[in-house]
Amino acid sequence: MSSVESFIEDLASSTNADFASVKEFPLMPEGEAVDMGHAEDGTPLLDPRILDSPEFFRNPYPYYRILRDHHPVFHDKLHNCYWVTRYDDITECYFDDEGFNTIPKGSSSGVLGNTQLELSGVEHRRRRNLYGQHLVGQSLQARIPAIEKLANEMIDAWDAAAKDDSALCSDNGDTRQLELSSMFANEFPIRVVCEVLGFPKEAQSQFYYWYNSMMSGLGGSATHKQGVEARQDLEDYVAGIVEERRQNPTYLLDQDGNPTSKDIITKLCETKVDGDFLSTEEITSNIALIVGAGGETTRGAIMNMWTLLLRHPDQFDAVIGDGENWDKAFHETLRHSSSIGGQPRHNTFDVEMHGVKVPAGSLMQMVDFSANHDERIFKEPETFDIFRDDLYYGKLLRSGYRKEGRCSHMAFGVGPHLCPGAWISHQEAVVGSKILLSRMRKPRINESKMPKDIDGKSPAPMGIISIRELWLEYDLS
Ligand code: HEM
Repeated sequence: MSSVESFIEDLASSTNADFASVKEFPLMPEGEAVDMGHAEDGTPLLDPRILDSPEFFRNPYPYYRILRDHHPVFHDKLHNCYWVTRYDDITECYFDDEGFNTIPKGSSSGVLGNTQLELSGVEHRRRRNLYGQHLVGQSLQARIPAIEKLANEMIDAWDAAAKDDSALCSDNGDTRQLELSSMFANEFPIRVVCEVLGFPKEAQSQFYYWYNSMMSGLGGSATHKQGVEARQDLEDYVAGIVEERRQNPTYLLDQDGNPTSKDIITKLCETKVDGDFLSTEEITSNIALIVGAGGETTRGAIMNMWTLLLRHPDQFDAVIGDGENWDKAFHETLRHSSSIGGQPRHNTFDVEMHGVKVPAGSLMQMVDFSANHDERIFKEPETFDIFRDDLYYGKLLRSGYRKEGRCSHMAFGVGPHLCPGAWISHQEAVVGSKILLSRMRKPRINESKMPKDIDGKSPAPMGIISIRELWLEYDLS
C-alpha cells in the first residue's frame, strides 16, 4: 500500500473522519494537477481529499486523467466508495442493471419520494413506460409550438424588467445588459415540464418554488426540512387534482388546438396496477422526479452551451449561419461540460475490475464527467469543438451508440436508466436558444461581470459546476 493510501486509511478510520477531508490544496493553472506524490514504481498517487477541494471543483480534469490512467477503479477509503472513470467500464456497468443496481439513492428518497431511480427490472420499466412516451416522438413534436411560445413569453417580459431598471436586466443607450440564468434559463425548463405534465399555467410559478425547495433539500441537512415540506405541499396540490382528472381527463393540444393525447397527469391518474389505481404518493413521486430531474440539468445545458459558444466565436458564427448546428452544439456541450457528474451504483456480487476487488454491496461512483473526457474515446477531450468527428450526434439510443469511431456522450447515461428526458431537454435547449438568438442582436458576454481565474484576468474555468451566472450584452437596434 502506498504511503498516501495508508495515511488516508489511518485518517479515515480515526474517529475524526471529517477532519480528514479538510486539506488545503493550491489552485493550479487549468489542466495541471497538484503533485500528490508517487508510488515506488512511479505511479502518480491521488489523495482523495482533493475531491472535496475548491481546486478540484474548478479544475477536475487532470485529476480524472490520473484516475483513468493509473487507478481506473479507485478505492477511496475516505469517502468509502470506488470511483470508476473509464468510458468502457462505466458503459458496461450501466448496461448491467442487475449486477450494478441503483438502490439506494441516499437522501433523494426523503425529498422526491419512492421514484423509479431506485427501481430495477420489470417494475422500473413499467414506471418508465407510464410517461416516457410523452417525452419523445410525435408527442414531443406536438409540444414544440408550446415550447416556442413559453420562450417568447419569457423574453417579452425583458422589456418591462429593463424599464424598471432591474439589476438583472437594464438598458444602457443602445445596448441591453442581462443575466441569462435569472431572466431565462432557471425557469424555462420547469415551465416546459409543467406544460407537458399538464399542470395549469397558473401553477407554474408555484412549481418553480417547489422545485427550488426540493432541489435545495437534496443538498444537505440544513435545507432538507424545507425540501420535505415543499414535497408535502406538492403532494397536497396533486391530491386535489387526482380525483378530478380521473373523472375528467385533460389532453395535450397541438398548435391548432386539437387534442393529441392525454397529458401525463391524466395518464398517471388512470393507471391501474394489479387492479388498483396508483396512489397519490406514487403519482406525486413520479411528478417530483420529472420536475426535479428536468430543471437544473437543462438549465445547466443552456447556460454552458451559450457560454462555450460565445467564448468560441467561430463556432457561434457556425450556429448563426446554420441552425442545424445547434444540435451539434448541444451534444458537444454535454460531452465537454455536462450538467450531471455521474451516477452511483451498488454491485450485487463481488467483482474484480482492473485488479481491484470490490465486495458486493459497495458504493461505486460512475463518473460520467470523466467518461466524457476519456481520451481513449474522444481526441483532445478538453477542446470544445462542435465539429469533432469522434462524437455521435444522432438520435440517442438506450443501447448507446458506438460506430465507426463515434461514441455518444455519457451525459444522459446509457442502458435501462438512460434519461427519458434526453429528447425533450434537447428540444428545450435548441428551440429556446434559436428563439433567444432571434431576439438578441449581436449577443456577447460581458466578461467584466464574470468570475475570474487565479490570474485575475482570464475567465474562471467551468469545472464541474455548471455556469451559475452568464452576463450578456446585446444591441437593441
Ligand atoms: C440536459 C439535461 C439532462 C441531463 C444531462 C440528464 C441526465 C440524466 C442522467 C445521467 C440520468 C440517468 C440516471 C441513472 O443512470 O441513474 C437521468 C435520468 C432521468 N432523467 Fe434526466 N437529464 C436531463 C434532462 C431531463 C429532463 C428534461 C427530464 C424530464 C422531463 C429528465 C427526467 C429524468 C428521469 C425521470 C430520470 C430517471 C430515469 C430512470 O431511472 O429510468 N431528465 N437523467
